[in-house]
Amino acid sequence: MNILITAGPTREPIDPVRYLSNRSSGKMGYALAQAALNHNHHVTLISGPVSLPAPSGAHLIPVETALQMFDAVRTTISHCDIAIFAAAVADYRPVTSSSQKLKKHPSSLSLHLEPTEDILGSARSLFNFSGYLVGFAAETENLIAHAQSKLTRKKCDLIIANDVSQPGIGFDSTENAVTLCFPNGEIHPLPKQSKQTLAAVLFDTILARATPLPPTPHA
Ligand code: CTP
Repeated sequence: MNILITAGPTREPIDPVRYLSNRSSGKMGYALAQAALNHNHHVTLISGPVSLPAPSGAHLIPVETALQMFDAVRTTISHCDIAIFAAAVADYRPVTSSSQKLKKHPSSLSLHLEPTEDILGSARSLFNFSGYLVGFAAETENLIAHAQSKLTRKKCDLIIANDVSQPGIGFDSTENAVTLCFPNGEIHPLPKQSKQTLAAVLFDTILARATPLPPTPHA
């Protein structure tokens, strides 16, 4: 099957040397890509800047900003059977990015931010994606309620909910513990384990529920 995975953070430039970003390491997305490759699937990995080697055999599309990730997903998602959105996309970007390095002044500085594209939220509505759609929900409170709300709003088949307030799991950690939320209300917690082991379990779960897209008829 063709699998699309987004991974890592995005960087939203403020000026040529500064940006807004987050603590995502990309480890969960890259581990999922490796799990899919281990099953001999074709993997397109759209990744923000990370310090991880590209999994051998993946088609890596490196991006920096949320807009670049949005464009890369838009042009690749239509031929995919499964799309897994593991990237920690910045929700806001500076409205303007200075072409010169901003100089320090004694007064305070305000950044005017605008929302970035909701890439996962666009999968069904803008990209007409009809395959198996998986999102992550990184939350610090009301984990299940927020995850279920994302599941419905973004028309996902599965949300992998992550309590990022707990030390030692999630962002920038080697381990993770997640709760799977399905549209039928099913909730399935998975205990703390290495991201590699967890990725194998997650990928098996996704594969068991996803069905390949019918072949596109030739013109
Ligand atoms: N996501 C995305 N594009 C964005 C923001 C998020 O594709 N601009 C995806 C993430 O990859 C993840 C899911 O949406 O799979 C949820 O991300 P999260 O940051 O938890 O949720 P948000 O939609 O940003 O909502 P909120 O910040 O209100 O929790």
